[in-house]
Amino acid sequence: MRLDGRELVLGVTGSIAAYKAVLLLRELARLGATVTVCLTEHARAFVGPLTFRTLSGRPVLTDLFDPQSDDAVEHIALAERAAAIVVAPATANLIAKAAHGVADDFLTTLLLAARCPVVIAPAMDGGMWEHPAVAANVAALRARGVTVMEPDSGALASGLSGRGRLPEPESIIAVLASMLAPAQDLAGEKVVVTAGPTREPIDPVRYISNRSSGKMGYNLAAAALRRGAEVTLVSGPTALTPPAAATFVPVQTAEEMREAVLRHLAGATIVIKAAAVADYRVRRPSEIKIKGKRDLTLELTPNPDILAEVAASRSGAFVVGFAAETNDVAANARAKLEAKGIDLLVANDVSQAGIGFDADDNEVLLIDRWGGNRALPRMAKSAVADAILGEILTLRRAAGRTAGKASR
Ligand code: CTP
Repeated sequence: MRLDGRELVLGVTGSIAAYKAVLLLRELARLGATVTVCLTEHARAFVGPLTFRTLSGRPVLTDLFDPQSDDAVEHIALAERAAAIVVAPATANLIAKAAHGVADDFLTTLLLAARCPVVIAPAMDGGMWEHPAVAANVAALRARGVTVMEPDSGALASGLSGRGRLPEPESIIAVLASMLAPAQDLAGEKVVVTAGPTREPIDPVRYISNRSSGKMGYNLAAAALRRGAEVTLVSGPTALTPPAAATFVPVQTAEEMREAVLRHLAGATIVIKAAAVADYRVRRPSEIKIKGKRDLTLELTPNPDILAEVAASRSGAFVVGFAAETNDVAANARAKLEAKGIDLLVANDVSQAGIGFDADDNEVLLIDRWGGNRALPRMAKSAVADAILGEILTLRRAAGRTAGKASR
């Protein structure tokens, strides 16, 4: 992997792990990247600018109004030129400022002006990383599309042991590399992704739904776009912003989702059903608001199984489903794959904390119709998305298919 021609900004904040930023810079430079280093005032207490200046071969930015800079608005110019900004190490303070849009030095101003991808590699004491304030700031940044890496576990500078170590330079570079130079291995593919919950009305103000956040499906849509696919995202109501380059089809009910998926099926080479479709809908939703405190019986009727219908249509698309299980995950998932007649089933154990519904991470089992079972480790949903897309290509190649031509 090379980073030639890529202009990056490396932000360094005041943590003892600042010395590892020197190693990161050396490696980025070795890979061919042009790196401008931006040190906060506290970072300078740990490692001096001369070290970074020597290794980067460029002036190091420290003050907002740098008298050495020809460009009076250098932070804006840099924010426009940079392919990515990586902050490593990022303290809890930097994360808080970035989350709240504070711009009181060069680095935080740059982060506010930037439109390029941002990677934040945290380093702090274990107790701090777990603090609800830090967790909320990290969640806010991630919701805005910033990649906040998980810190590593191990010995910390405080003498304690826990989660809070700066991720190794190799991991940071791997994240940057996947962001900057994704393989265009889905060029020419038409991918339909469904995401989010569906809402089945009870009356004009109430509905039946579920806890799906849509994060897995939105990450799949974004990953497929990055890899060159044309993407249609059919989504139930979520709090997420769809990727700008996707054809976005918002829906509410399972029946609307079915209609939208079937409408976009023609020409699709891959269909991924990450949506948590409500299994039932109210047979006769009330047209007026239901009043009173009496017992109420709702008559539910099953929704059409969109996934099974897509598989049965033999459209030629590679069909992927999701399954949320709480027990006997592998056996239940294989039974579901066979019952629905699909190519790949992504199963997750929703009884585990921190993965699945509404979480940022996922840990899934990939079950395919050719008998394969592959367990993936716990990863961020964006990484799971890339792994699923990679698996689809591998399976399709192995089954001797080419895009758009199914052999079954
Ligand atoms: N699905 C669908 N249409 C439905 C229900 C589900 O397309 N009416 C799809 C989902 O998008 C998902 C997969 O089918 O890809 C999930 O299958 P489902 O049978 O709903 O599994 P679970 O939700 O895990 O439910 P259960 O175990 O109760 O069958």
